[in-house]
Amino acid sequence: MSDLLVQGGRLFDPVSRVDGIGDLLIKDGQVAAVGEAVSVEAEVLGARGLLVVPGLLDMHVHLREPGQEHKETIASGTRAAAMGGFTAVACEPNTSPPRDTAERVAEVIETAKREAAIRVLPKCAITVGQEGSEVTDFAALRAAGAAAASDDGFSVRDAGVMRDALAAAKQTRMPLTLHVDGPEMVERDIGLAAELGWGVHFSHVSLAAEVELIAEARERGLPVSGEATPHHLALCADDAPMGDANFKMNPPLRSAGDRDALRTALVEGVICAIASDHAPHAPDEKARPFEEAPPGVIGLETTVGVIWTDLVHTGLLAERAAVRAMTAGPQEVLGMVGGSVSPALRIGARGDVTLLDPDHEWTVEPERFESKARNCPFAGRRLRGRAVATIVAGRAVMREGSILAPGAIE
Ligand code: DOR
Repeated sequence: MSDLLVQGGRLFDPVSRVDGIGDLLIKDGQVAAVGEAVSVEAEVLGARGLLVVPGLLDMHVHLREPGQEHKETIASGTRAAAMGGFTAVACEPNTSPPRDTAERVAEVIETAKREAAIRVLPKCAITVGQEGSEVTDFAALRAAGAAAASDDGFSVRDAGVMRDALAAAKQTRMPLTLHVDGPEMVERDIGLAAELGWGVHFSHVSLAAEVELIAEARERGLPVSGEATPHHLALCADDAPMGDANFKMNPPLRSAGDRDALRTALVEGVICAIASDHAPHAPDEKARPFEEAPPGVIGLETTVGVIWTDLVHTGLLAERAAVRAMTAGPQEVLGMVGGSVSPALRIGARGDVTLLDPDHEWTVEPERFESKARNCPFAGRRLRGRAVATIVAGRAVMREGSILAPGAIE
């Protein structure tokens, strides 16, 4: 493995308390020097004027493989992620068949090794067939490499089943990321988390009432966290043109008040992660009459641009908080902070790094995306801010809008 010297950028990692112009050396896949670095052998990547941050993690992505490869594959979805600056994605288990066995988790890991442009962290289903009645075998799934359990697309309706899931999660240290579907379910699951002493993380939080419950629970010291999508942070129901299925998703766009509550929650750290809920669907599926079109929008290639344009450049969100919500925030939920498995600008950390140009202006053109899907609510928008290099284990997999090394991430 060759060395990589990222030279002259603004090294920025709020968690490691790094903020200053300098060099970063990655050696054998790990960070070997931060600040001042010399290496005679290293390949040099100039980063003057760029923000150098730990590799971004999107903890909520749909890759559709196996079963719906016409919408997205592990290869196409991870190329989209690399374009967006992500060095890792956690992928939801609502594939066909649902990812509810150790074999199916292992299969994703194997395919990703051969075909993925970046790292893939497979989630497994909470219940068998995602049917809500029987908890999957968390011990076997965890052993196979499941990063978290989720029944995304559905909530686990039966409280008894959810209690069993929490008990099993506690025993196997399985992070639980739950499909949020209104405040009632959030309240119930906070109660169960308190009762069983194991954490719950709420996916795509979108309502002020849900935010309030999560904030209260956190004030009480409960292990409860939440994520928000760029579309719920940037848009509200009034922004959606009538009948345009590229604005149809679950949960739907909410009121301006809900959007503002979500923004405040992100600023205050009540919401700890920004996650795209990248949900690719084929153009002909989205072209159906609104009621029949499948819910979901893509987001991997626009997350950084939308967050910087609408939240950072407008002064609503500090750059520090934006970076945290795409690095340490989601890492913490997945229990992977520290050591050598998570990216950080710290010696010994995983050598996954993202280079951002906060001032790069561009227009969203979905037809140019690496994703197979085009269902993007930001099409045609002018954005300011973009990832310009994605580095995995010291190897640039994307540079200035081109994929350099598709496939084969160990
Ligand atoms: O809009 C959505 N689409 N929400 C979900 O929870 C699932 C996702 C999908 O799989 O398409």
